[in-house]
Amino acid sequence: MKGKFITFEGGEGTGKSTQIKLLEKYLQQKDKNVITTKEPGGTDVGAEIRKLLVCGDKDKFDAVAEALLYFADRHIHLTKKVWPALEAGTWVLSDRFADSTFAYQYYGYDKRVSREVLERLYQIAVGDFKPDLTIILDLEPEVGLARSFNKAKSMEVKELRFEGRELAFHQNLRRGFLEIAAAEPQRCVVLDADKTIEALHRDIVKIVNEKFGI
Ligand code: TMP
Repeated sequence: MKGKFITFEGGEGTGKSTQIKLLEKYLQQKDKNVITTKEPGGTDVGAEIRKLLVCGDKDKFDAVAEALLYFADRHIHLTKKVWPALEAGTWVLSDRFADSTFAYQYYGYDKRVSREVLERLYQIAVGDFKPDLTIILDLEPEVGLARSFNKAKSMEVKELRFEGRELAFHQNLRRGFLEIAAAEPQRCVVLDADKTIEALHRDIVKIVNEKFGI
C-alpha cells in the first residue's frame, strides 16, 4: 500500500475527532493527500449500521452481536474506502478501528466474547492488514464522559448508547486500550489526552514525524 493508515483510539470524549482534523490540516500543509474517516459509519451503508449500534437501549445487543456488526461495518469500510485510498497513495486517518472492538467488546464487557472469536472475525473481515500507526488517547473516564454528554446536548440524534454504561465498563476499556498498546509497542503510541488541544496536537505531530520521517 502506498498511503499510510493512521488510526485514533480511546474511550468516550478523548478528543479524537478534533485531533484528526488538526492532523489532516498539518499533513495537507506537507503536501500529502489525506482523507479522514471513522468507524462505525465511514461509508453510506456503514452509516446505517452505525445508527443501529450507537442509538437506543444499551442492552439491545449482546457483545457477540455487536462485534459482528462492527466487523461488518469494518469490512465494508476497508473494501470500499480505506484500501482503495491507500492504493492511490492517500493517507487515511480513521476515528477508531479494530482496537475499539477488542477494547469495548472484550475488555469493556469483562471478556464476554473470547479473544479467539474476535481474532477469527478479524481474520475474516480484515485479514493480515493492520494500521501503520495507532494513536491511543488516554483519559480518566469521568473526564471523557462529561465531555461527551456535553457534546451530545447539541446533537440531533443522541449517540449515547455506550455512555449509558456504568463507570466500571469505561474503566475496563481504558485498561484494555493500555494492554493493547503494551502488546504492540511498534504500532501503538499512548498519549495523555488531559491537556490542551494545541499541546496534544504537538505531541501527535511529533509522533507522526518520527514514525514517517515527514
Ligand atoms: P464514536 O462515538 O467514537 O464515533 O464511536 C461510536 C461508539 O461505538 C463508541 O461508543 C465506541 C463504540 N465502538 C465499539 O464498541 N466497538 C467498535 O469496534 C467501534 C469501532 C466502536
